[in-house]
Amino acid sequence: MRKFILAAASIAALTFVGPASAQSPIVLKFSHVVASDTPKGKAADKFKELAEKYTGGKVKVEVYPNSTLYKDKEELEALQLGAVQMLAPSNSKFGPIGIKEFEVFDLPYILPDLKALRKVTDGPLGAQLLKKLDSKGMTGLAYWDNGFKQMSANKKLVAPADYKGLKFRIQSSKVLEAQFRALGAIPQVMAFSDVYQALQTGVVDGQENTWSNIYTQKMHEVQKYATVTNHGYIGYVVVVNKKFWDGLPADIREQLSKAMKEATEFGNNQSAKENDDALEAIKKAGKTEIISLSPEQDEAMRKAMMPVYKDVASRVGQPLIDEFLKETGRSPMN
Ligand code: LMR
Repeated sequence: MRKFILAAASIAALTFVGPASAQSPIVLKFSHVVASDTPKGKAADKFKELAEKYTGGKVKVEVYPNSTLYKDKEELEALQLGAVQMLAPSNSKFGPIGIKEFEVFDLPYILPDLKALRKVTDGPLGAQLLKKLDSKGMTGLAYWDNGFKQMSANKKLVAPADYKGLKFRIQSSKVLEAQFRALGAIPQVMAFSDVYQALQTGVVDGQENTWSNIYTQKMHEVQKYATVTNHGYIGYVVVVNKKFWDGLPADIREQLSKAMKEATEFGNNQSAKENDDALEAIKKAGKTEIISLSPEQDEAMRKAMMPVYKDVASRVGQPLIDEFLKETGRSPMN
């Protein structure tokens, strides 16, 4: 795959046309791993529409959903090499490339709701985190929502003890690994596009994701139970290849920034509804029993996952976690 990315990168370098002319629009490839009919998919399509409109066609945005170009791990490498210009990987995916600070977003119960999330991402802490991306050859443009994660398996998951010994697919994240270990489960890193088949064939017993991802990947067809846990958050950082971005004519960069700002508002305003709608669709499909937790059961889950905080503090430092918690104004225990 690396060879393929390198070949694509050199073709991209040869075909990058610099300042736009009427005959040769600047091509911006936007790759992502989820379905078009998801919060990220819709925001990406909105960005394309607005970017092409505001630049008067001088920029052509090609959106590649559903891992058609790259799977999880390959995406960021392709961006750094210039084979693709724009991505929106989940926060989790920045830890493995050395930007550990993004691990904080993966902490269980760190974000009580989307309002608290916005306080982090729209404030100085959010800007400070985006700045860290520069050193990796990318520019962070925006934070896009998906929503809160839920647990699913072929076994009823109510108490922490129910997780014991089960294999769960995770994104490549030290935090998520620690989270499932804290529950006595066995985490298994796997690309998003492989999850459905792994659940279907029993390679893993369960997984965690948002309702929109569960529904659009048809995971509910191969999982008997899903529990409303809202235990973690999946959101994205829209990143662009820094060299490509800095090399754009200033007016084009401004028009693309405007398109990004509006696509972000559009996407983030409807992400919660999209996840609610996906939950309704899963219920309607009738293949998965949806389990709700009582306040006591919820508390037991929170308690079981608290050791993860210590683990993350040892890597990113307690001050960053404290700063995050100060912004959200809530303890992860309630
Ligand atoms: C996952 O790998 O589960 C998610 O990050 C996929 C996505 O982009 O929402």
